Amino acid sequence: MKILLTGAAGFIGTHIGRIARERGHEVVALDMFLDKAHGPGERPPGFEQLDLRSARLDDVLDGIDVVCHQAAMVGNGVDAQDLPDYAEHNDAGTARLLAAMARRGVDRLVLASSMVVYGDGRYTCPEHGDVPPAQRREDDLSVGRYDPRCPVCGGDITWRRISEDTPFLPRTSYAASKIAQEHYASAWCTLEGSRAVALRYHNVYGPGMPADTPYAGVAAIFRSAIARGEAPRVFEDGAQVRDFVHVHDIARANVLAVEQVADHEPGLTPYNIASGTTFTIGQMASTLAAAAGGQQPVLTGDYRAFDVRHVVASPEAAKAGLGFEAEIRPEEGLAALATDPLRTR
Ligand code: UD1
Repeated sequence: MKILLTGAAGFIGTHIGRIARERGHEVVALDMFLDKAHGPGERPPGFEQLDLRSARLDDVLDGIDVVCHQAAMVGNGVDAQDLPDYAEHNDAGTARLLAAMARRGVDRLVLASSMVVYGDGRYTCPEHGDVPPAQRREDDLSVGRYDPRCPVCGGDITWRRISEDTPFLPRTSYAASKIAQEHYASAWCTLEGSRAVALRYHNVYGPGMPADTPYAGVAAIFRSAIARGEAPRVFEDGAQVRDFVHVHDIARANVLAVEQVADHEPGLTPYNIASGTTFTIGQMASTLAAAAGGQQPVLTGDYRAFDVRHVVASPEAAKAGLGFEAEIRPEEGLAALATDPLRTR
């Protein structure tokens, strides 16, 4: 297959390109080398440097079978001044890509989405059943009550694994832009009778991860702290639950989706992509620190307004629909992350 891979020079794109080529696909590697992600300076060979908002996109789409769209501004965003960049790169970039695909008759898309679309996820209240958690209150957080309450009775609730039909609940500019990308892709499918698969990644980690930047997730932040000889600083009480999924598995899921998107019904099909194993942030910090022989993590008790407490994806649909199961167990992958190389630009 001839694949157009956007964001090909990024953390995840690099791994997708390698695995796709190993499986015999031809990859056209596109990247705009956004300064915020790659810094200024010389660009490596083998990439077509192109902004998705450029008119030249039509030419690049000639003869392409499937687009695998990874290019995006990532992270939570530093503050409201980042909003236009998320909208322009993620929303407008995707809209322009889809319009160009329609002009060139390319009718298959694999889209990088994220667990962030679910926001706080879903919980079970013993009284009220399946609920979205109430927004955490400052008076709870300031006394160290970090778990959210039932939105109806205010009582204790327990998190549960979420499936792809969980309603969207964006909390950050990044989340808003990932939801927008899914909506644009869905509209494109309706207008063109096309097919899209959206892969909602859980917390991705592994070799080539960008070093600590204002846009980095917790695994990169802790890995960078360890590299500086510092202790990972764990917020809240460290009991926040996530699923850490290795970049090799994320890349495999993308290649499986590229190969199978044509077998899906017209329209957009979403899949959670997760390892299936839960970890707390505290456990993750200890695993990394122990593997590095570095300082033990410190619990700071700090908290951030936009953080979700627990969010865990069900990996079942991806197994049934794509035959995807993670191969790298987080205990092993996170220990290896202690010495995996990071990307510095
Ligand atoms: C992360 C990604 C998000 C992705 C999602 C998939 C980032 C910034 N966030 O969201 O894009 O969609 O995974 O599941 O890439 N924490 C610390 N110490 C720190 C920083 C964070 O303890 O120095 C804690 C936070 O309080 C939070 C947890 O680690 O509870 C995870 O934080 P983070 O990686 O920023 O965000 P996620 O919500 O997991």
